[in-house]
Amino acid sequence: MKTLLEKYDLSGRELHNHFVMAPMTRARRPDNIPDDETAVYYRQRASAGLIVSEGLPVSPEAQGYIAVPGIWTDQQVAGWKLVTDAVHDAGGTMFAQLWHVGRISHTSLQPNGQAPVSSSAKKIVNPKFQAFIYKEDGSEGRVDPSEPRALETDEVARVTSDFRRAARNASTAGFDGVELHAANNYLFEQFLNPAMNDRTDQYGGSVENRARFALETIDAVIEELGATRVGIRLSPRNQDYTGQDGWIEETYNYLADELAERRIAYIHLNDSRIGGKPSLDDAFLKSFRAHFPGTLILAGAMSFERGEQLVEAGIIDLPAFGQPFIANPDLVERYRDDVVVARPDRDTFYGGGSKGYTDYPRAVHEDV
Ligand SMILES: Cc1cc2nc3c(=O)[nH]c(=O)nc-3n(C[C@H](O)[C@H](O)[C@H](O)COP(=O)(O)O)c2cc1C
Repeated sequence: MKTLLEKYDLSGRELHNHFVMAPMTRARRPDNIPDDETAVYYRQRASAGLIVSEGLPVSPEAQGYIAVPGIWTDQQVAGWKLVTDAVHDAGGTMFAQLWHVGRISHTSLQPNGQAPVSSSAKKIVNPKFQAFIYKEDGSEGRVDPSEPRALETDEVARVTSDFRRAARNASTAGFDGVELHAANNYLFEQFLNPAMNDRTDQYGGSVENRARFALETIDAVIEELGATRVGIRLSPRNQDYTGQDGWIEETYNYLADELAERRIAYIHLNDSRIGGKPSLDDAFLKSFRAHFPGTLILAGAMSFERGEQLVEAGIIDLPAFGQPFIANPDLVERYRDDVVVARPDRDTFYGGGSKGYTDYPRAVHEDV
């Protein structure tokens, strides 16, 4: 049997193969509530061993983009139940990705038009990072994020409790577990990265202090769900904050040690890729692995061949695929049968309706 088709034991939960569908925001729910079509989309992809949901904002403050379904209200929980029931019916396993964008937001998305929150009051300057809002004329579009304000020391625990509530809600909604989104420049990374975090309290300065918010939140979520149902996503060597590389290995190795001690279900690394090349090379992965013996997932321009090689060499446990799952609901079957993989249409990644969402055809009709 092909390597990636073998079953996998994820902290006592059997995955029907080694394929992970990476989290992908699709921004198709103007009321922020998942619906029947959300369920169809995920069910179509349930032959993945593990599906990680699109990022789910844990509170109104956590949002940076319109039309993203959240996980803070009862209606949202009921909507997600449609999705998890559909995925479970098809034999799949699904974790919810819990998300707070921090400073990558805009006052128009924030409760009472407040400033977005972050580790510091530093505004993001990278033009690649924009919020997506309803403009004053009612049209939709990208805008520069607003100037953030630094969370007060005693507010950090409130954000942790928003994650705790979101984890409880995710469990009620039938998710098998949750993944904290601590990657891609969002709130947790805004604390981890010393270029963004200029705090002088217990959440800034040393590695232990910068990692404190993420670890306190992991602990809160473990208390709710148990460690076997908790994962985390990290993006070390994120291409947008290179230039001061020294802190990266120290910070991420410390996190890996702490997470290993807590025996969480997995760490999911996202390779942000620099100049089209892997930023998390085998040397980095091997060294990270030495700090975290648990399940290691890797995403980022993954191919079947690289996934097989890394798994066979014991460097990672599970490869994750993002864009390939958009255009290939039957990605696993295509791998099994050596069927060519279709490319997605970038114009329909975000927003809109069924087009580019639930209308990608299957090439293989019989499930694995
Ligand atoms: C349309 C789209 C939406 C995404 N949304 C998220 C998200 O909500 N959370 C997240 O952690 N990563 C998100 N990502 C990143 C993917 O999970 C993945 O790491 C990245 O696309 C690299 O994998 P790939 O080359 O297989 O697509 C998104 C990527 C795409 C293309």
